[in-house]
Amino acid sequence: MPIFLDTGNVNEIKKYHQMGIIRGVTTNPTILLKEGVKGGMAGVKARSIEIASLIAPYPLSVEVTTNDYKKMIDEGLEFSSWAPNINVKITIHGPNGELENLEVIHKLEIEHNVRVNVTAMMSAQQCFLAALAGASYVSIFGGRVNNMGYDSRLEVTKIRDLLDQFNLPAQIIVGSTREVLNVVEWLHAGAHIVTATPSLIEGMIVHPYSKETVQMFLKDAKAFSEAAGK
Ligand code: E4P
Repeated sequence: MPIFLDTGNVNEIKKYHQMGIIRGVTTNPTILLKEGVKGGMAGVKARSIEIASLIAPYPLSVEVTTNDYKKMIDEGLEFSSWAPNINVKITIHGPNGELENLEVIHKLEIEHNVRVNVTAMMSAQQCFLAALAGASYVSIFGGRVNNMGYDSRLEVTKIRDLLDQFNLPAQIIVGSTREVLNVVEWLHAGAHIVTATPSLIEGMIVHPYSKETVQMFLKDAKAFSEAAGK
């Protein structure tokens, strides 16, 4: 399942889904805000259902909007009831390092059979613990790791080795993608999935030299048919 789209923009999702190149979508509160989702939870619900039905059966990640233990469980149950392909994003810990999140993740996965994507992780050790707690997806923010001065590729390879060594079924998602190059380099390092913005996916497709080559073909094809018309 290599490429997910990291956006809440329905038109962009439609465009890349119709090309057959994406296998899921990730969102977070920041992304939904940027994409103009309004109306509180009703707005989040409407946009999530729209995206989930558009890409079904591929997965959509929707992030909880709270760090309260009970409310995270309630939102997790609610979000996952909106569509069968919605999974719930929970951060590895709270804003001040609160530790309850792993228990929430464990409960949602094991007791409630809800698929959880553990997010906002910066290291292999965090991803390993999230996978032990039962997470279906472990999301490491590769671009932010690089920005802290560490090589995210090494973390990705370490996580993959640990998951394989201990037969943990979690899928690694690498996000926070900053450069076109990241997509292939993280997949090469062992990520199961990279999530990238629409503009980075476009950057993967379009190459100036391909443009020039296509222009040459079309110009010569025109000359060819003009000559045949004479
Ligand atoms: C991944 O699932 C996240 O939505 C995203 O990639 C976060 O990236 P950022 O560092 O651009 O906020």
